[in-house]
Amino acid sequence: MVLQRVIRAVIMGPPGSGKGTVSARITKSFGLQHMSSGDILRANIKEKTELGLLMKACIDQGQLVPDDIMSRLILNDLRKIDNSGWLLDGFPRTVSQAEALDHAFSLDTVINLNVPFQTIKERLTSRWTHIPSGRVYNTDFNPPKVPGLDDVTGEPLVQRDDDRPETVTRRLKSYETQTEPVLEFYRLTFCNTRTMKILKKAVFLGFSSKGERQENIPL
Ligand code: AP5
Repeated sequence: MVLQRVIRAVIMGPPGSGKGTVSARITKSFGLQHMSSGDILRANIKEKTELGLLMKACIDQGQLVPDDIMSRLILNDLRKIDNSGWLLDGFPRTVSQAEALDHAFSLDTVINLNVPFQTIKERLTSRWTHIPSGRVYNTDFNPPKVPGLDDVTGEPLVQRDDDRPETVTRRLKSYETQTEPVLEFYRLTFCNTRTMKILKKAVFLGFSSKGERQENIPL
């Protein structure tokens, strides 16, 4: 099924919760473009761009890339594809990034994957990735057809440098302190949008079609 309306959506969840896996299925079903901040950064590292070289140490240690760099990178890329619908994965990761996105685009929905940290640690030890495309596999849940090789290109799969247990622990910690507040930001944003709609309706209902004030304003 391909949606006619342009949909702008964000998928959130802790590292390794399945954002990439679920995004691949949603974008295929709904005809959306998938934009993953992690895939963009890993492509830069692979290509040895100036950004990639600068950010590699940061990513390998499980730290977040600075907000201003990340926001500029993602918002520029989003503007290029904004005539079609998109699903954004891995951005925003801080309230500052969420505010930057909110200034530039109006979102239709935010999806949050809620997975226990212990399950995540188990999943990441058996994750294998095809870096050029971002396709992910799991030796238990979603194995490649031929062990160690990408289903589409036949190229070798690798384990990510930031999937080492101590780095995963650091990434989960950073998720708790820096990314969980983004969920609260969206709870408030979507709640306020709904309140605004109700208030506009209340103002509209407060006047007759001739502009006369009506007494009972249904809220
Ligand atoms: P990024 O690539 O975005 O990493 P992440 O958020 O840590 O997420 P992952 O890609 O690790 O996991 P995922 O949730 O996509 O799970 P997956 O589908 O692979 O970012 C990497 C780094 O870049 C960050 O640490 C940071 O340094 C930097 N960065 C990126 N964005 C940034 C930003 N906005 N600001 C600052 N820095 C940024 O699934 C995991 C495994 O589980 C797979 O093996 C999969 O097959 C398996 N699996 C999935 N679903 C299931 C299921 N239902 N049951 C069983 N197994 C499953």
